[in-house]
Amino acid sequence: SRYKELHERLNLWYREHGRHDLPWRQTRDPYRIYLSEIMLQQTQVSTVLERFYFPFLERFPTLAVVAEASEEEVLKAWEGLGYYSRARHLHRTARLCNGVLPSTSQELERLPGIGRSTARAIACFAFDEAAPILDANVRRILYRFFRRRKATERELWRMAERLFDAKRPYDYNQAMMDLGAMICTPKDPRCDLCPLREGCRGRQAPERYPEAKKASK
Ligand code: ADE
Repeated sequence: SRYKELHERLNLWYREHGRHDLPWRQTRDPYRIYLSEIMLQQTQVSTVLERFYFPFLERFPTLAVVAEASEEEVLKAWEGLGYYSRARHLHRTARLCNGVLPSTSQELERLPGIGRSTARAIACFAFDEAAPILDANVRRILYRFFRRRKATERELWRMAERLFDAKRPYDYNQAMMDLGAMICTPKDPRCDLCPLREGCRGRQAPERYPEAKKASK
């Protein structure tokens, strides 16, 4: 890959600064990884970690337990997290796959509540599938790295494929999430600390990328 050196730097940065203590990074249980990705779709890491992840797992330790419960019971355990369609989809997913998640992103993507990026995150983190993810953090990094103000979904996926480190899918995808959360932040990104700065075309004016959404009123 043309990005071999950047991949090395990103990997060194992740080893030193990555959030390795996040509980969903200390398990290969597909259900625990899936649950974290669903919760993290619309809820901050700190909130999931401090208030919801462990109590939910205590009540529903496996996907089979979710499948056996009623939707109402699952909704009850989801209380306070919001975006309750996530809980309904989780319950439907548990029943549809009889408590056992499939192991490829292609199959995962067909389940309710699991979009393309979430499917790839689960397949990568639980089953080592070698494919990039494209969540909000990764999108922002790509817009800046490739100095784009606008891009279609298709273009974003192509950019994600181009920068992807296929040799280390797990660490690359987790590292990109941390980079977006800790360095390539929406406001005041820390380009001086960024392991990708040498190749980043947007680093002179990162806040120009992507184009700001017009304020609605
Ligand atoms: N947000 C979504 N998935 C995540 C993960 N695996 N680690 C940290 N933040 C995330």
